[in-house]
Amino acid sequence: MKKISLILLVILLGSCAGDSNSFMNRNKFENLVKRFEDPTRTKSQKPDEVIALFGDIAGKKIMDIGAGTGYFSFRMADKGAKVIAADVDDRFLDYIEEKRLKSNSNNVSTRKVEYEDPLLKKEEVDHVIIVNTYHHIEDREAYFTKVKNGINREGSLMVVDFKKEVKSPGPPKRYRVAVDKVKEELMVAGFDEFEVNNDLLETQYIVIAR
Ligand SMILES: C[S@@+](CC[C@H](N)C(=O)[O-])C[C@H]1O[C@@H](n2cnc3c(N)ncnc32)[C@H](O)[C@@H]1O
Repeated sequence: MKKISLILLVILLGSCAGDSNSFMNRNKFENLVKRFEDPTRTKSQKPDEVIALFGDIAGKKIMDIGAGTGYFSFRMADKGAKVIAADVDDRFLDYIEEKRLKSNSNNVSTRKVEYEDPLLKKEEVDHVIIVNTYHHIEDREAYFTKVKNGINREGSLMVVDFKKEVKSPGPPKRYRVAVDKVKEELMVAGFDEFEVNNDLLETQYIVIAR
């Protein structure tokens, strides 16, 4: 009897844990699209001001990791960047392809990437941006070593993710990664210069790493 109870407890705990992708995908795809594309999101997300932190991006090649609906990809493309919208999920990549065809935007291409590999060639891009997706990556030190390798010498990585200490809609606290941990992990991955912006966005930090 004791043994059966123990097995049931292990199964129950297992089903409660899960990773942040399973947690996100408890929502229907249509609801995720609605949430990511919500027009009122501009107030809290300030996409144009976030993108401006890269400086002039006209003509720059940028990978958007975890592009989702392309919320950031299309905005960067409108500013003249050549954007690789990268995601692991075909539903989002198809959504972006459709949007690209409708908007006739030649500045966005899609790339299906792997959970543990952004599939960047050496120094392929000027910048990488990863919004609300850093916490979805599992072995981040190995993953961002590959990201570092894919960015050219003058380029940078921008991480935008949820503040751990601020209660807000988004992933539960157990999935969030504190900003100091982001810096520590990126240092192991080979980045050594950091700018942290905690003020622009109320619920998210921004780390620019080189
Ligand atoms: C919370 S959404 C963020 C979407 C978009 N960046 C935005 O801000 O609207 C997370 C996205 O990351 C993608 N994703 C999850 N794990 C990933 C991984 N290891 N590599 C690339 N994309 C991933 C998901 O499919 C999803 O589209």
